[in-house]
Amino acid sequence: MARIFSGIQPSGDLHVGNYFGAVRQWVAGQAVSDAVYCIVDLHALTLDIDPAALRARTVDTAIGLVASGLDPDVCTLFVQSHVPAHTELAWLLECTASYGELRRMTQFKDKGKDQESVRASLLTYPVLMAADILLYDTDRVPVGDDQRQHIELARDLAIRFNSRYGDTFVVPEAAIPPRAARVMDLQRPENKMSKSTGTPLGTIAIADSADEIAKKVRRAVTDTESDVRYDPAAKPGVANLLELLSAATGEEPDTIAARYHAYGPLKADVVEALVELLTPVRARILELSDDPATVSAALEKGAAKAGRLASPALDRARAAIGLTARAG
Ligand code: TYM
Repeated sequence: MARIFSGIQPSGDLHVGNYFGAVRQWVAGQAVSDAVYCIVDLHALTLDIDPAALRARTVDTAIGLVASGLDPDVCTLFVQSHVPAHTELAWLLECTASYGELRRMTQFKDKGKDQESVRASLLTYPVLMAADILLYDTDRVPVGDDQRQHIELARDLAIRFNSRYGDTFVVPEAAIPPRAARVMDLQRPENKMSKSTGTPLGTIAIADSADEIAKKVRRAVTDTESDVRYDPAAKPGVANLLELLSAATGEEPDTIAARYHAYGPLKADVVEALVELLTPVRARILELSDDPATVSAALEKGAAKAGRLASPALDRARAAIGLTARAG
């Protein structure tokens, strides 16, 4: 069975971009692959995050993932910092990566640009991400479009390590969905929807009520024209609504666009589709939030399993690079 691995930062509320771009593929993947999913709390430390908020969001993210359909008895679901192999392998890979290739990462340039002092970890972030992936002999990494460059780096590091030290890592492939791989902010359709930097009215959380979803979609920025066509460059707001409806219904955005002659009815149908999809997810989130101990117990079991899965690749890498064997 193919191994799939992916991760998500506990840096804010899960939103429909995360859902369509990644989590929906994770749910489908757990039935047909050996699936490992990680809440990457260490990655969230690269930006300023309040310790109490990080703690709460780590559990909330797990609840959101389980409510979306991940079954911790079927997949392996765990918190990154509970498996120390991630940081250990990250160091070995940092000694394989170059400063130049990390500095060129677009997310480093974007996230670092408005900060007075940039954390060193923002630069090395994609190396930790490569370690996450390579530890599990991963074949496929289901992610949204914004992670494409990071997966490319993980591949480059695996190939370089293998050629320098001998065959050690499986070289992974990105798996990016054909639709809604980059859901945009409803208020600023030139920016992606984001947990950490999105606008409140432009971000639809998977836990939003029907009223909140309706309000946000109705106020979504479109343009001064009125014709409905799928043209992401000229009409990013309308294209985003069409992408969302396409992701929810499986129909092509062009085919959907041909049925509408005004923005109002399009928005009404986007609301209906999202409410139908998210109502059961929200109900499950509310249920699980009353009993966080169940999810925490599942995460504990997940970490023990992930630790066992990770150790062969870490041992191979340690031996290949020349570290002496440790006792135990
Ligand atoms: P993160 O936490 O930003 O996002 C989690 C997943 O959601 C996808 N995503 C989106 N997809 C479509 N439209 C959007 N607006 C949108 N926003 C987010 C992301 O592409 C991602 O798949 N670096 C990663 C976390 C990570 C990881 C890994 C992923 C750490 N280690 C190893 C895969 C494998 C991140 O910050 O994702």
